Amino acid sequence: MNLPHIRFIQVPTCDAADPRAELASGLLRQPAAVAPKFFYDRLGSALFAAITELPEYYPTRTEAAIFAAHQADMAAALTSRLGPHCTLVDLGAGDGAKAARLFAPLQPVRYVAVDISVDFMHDALRGLQQRFPAIEMVGVGLDFSLQLELPAGVLDGPVLLFYPGSSIGNFGPEAALRLLRQARAAAQGGALLIGVDLVKPRAVLEAAYDDALGVTAAFNLNLLRHVNRVLRSDFDVRDWRHVAFFDAEASRIEMHLEARRAHTVRWPGGERRFESGERIHTEDSYKWTGTGFEALLGDAGYTRVQTWTDERGWFAVMLAFVA
Ligand code: AVI
Repeated sequence: MNLPHIRFIQVPTCDAADPRAELASGLLRQPAAVAPKFFYDRLGSALFAAITELPEYYPTRTEAAIFAAHQADMAAALTSRLGPHCTLVDLGAGDGAKAARLFAPLQPVRYVAVDISVDFMHDALRGLQQRFPAIEMVGVGLDFSLQLELPAGVLDGPVLLFYPGSSIGNFGPEAALRLLRQARAAAQGGALLIGVDLVKPRAVLEAAYDDALGVTAAFNLNLLRHVNRVLRSDFDVRDWRHVAFFDAEASRIEMHLEARRAHTVRWPGGERRFESGERIHTEDSYKWTGTGFEALLGDAGYTRVQTWTDERGWFAVMLAFVA
């Protein structure tokens, strides 16, 4: 079938972003660290999808309930400021399912799905194009955690940047501010619709990142198998355990992998000895207060912010205008 309204663009990452060099230098650091983007190989993405189904992992369903309850208000606020027919830019689009729920209320002219690689977007965008033939679809492969700069010719008319899922929490405050500023520039006078996970009791937070079934543990450990493939290292997942805790002072969940015994991990051109109990830091997930994140949006140059939350105040969806 001929689908004229669909195109794909892969933005190459610069040489400085060589994943093998990045992994080796992270493993040699004191303490060792591996960036959370290495969670998401094929199995890691499937495990993350399973996490979102867990009873303990409240963010996905809480955010979905906020959108379901308030999407008409959100659409009204957006169309009154931006007019109809915006370009909807979906950051970390995945299969595009979350953004697709906004197609009916917002009626975008163009949907720009941005994710780390276009390779995984083909099927999803073709499926969406068949369901919504009036919307032009563009898949952009871009690691926007490095730099959020969209290729020329991708934006058309008023822009709504959509960043759901509280992924902004995986950036520290400074990096989050930088990304929000880049998003403001990319929105070209439009708006940002963003999901933010909020501070809540420690027990709720820690259960969400250390669930009874061990799915989050498998997600964390699977990172080592991904590292083995990329770096040709010899991590044995059985030598490691999953650790997750809430650091209240920093307001973040920290995830680590902890060595069960002293051993040395080797890869071509390098090695690292780990003592028993030594950790590899794999992820931070920052939890904001509503006012704290509104202030961050203000610092990033957004002028008006409208916030919707669930009745427990566990999650917020914020709509921030640029002008
Ligand atoms: C993708 N991100 C918002 C998730 C989070 O909650 O920080 C990743 C995750 N890590 C463990 N569970 C989920």
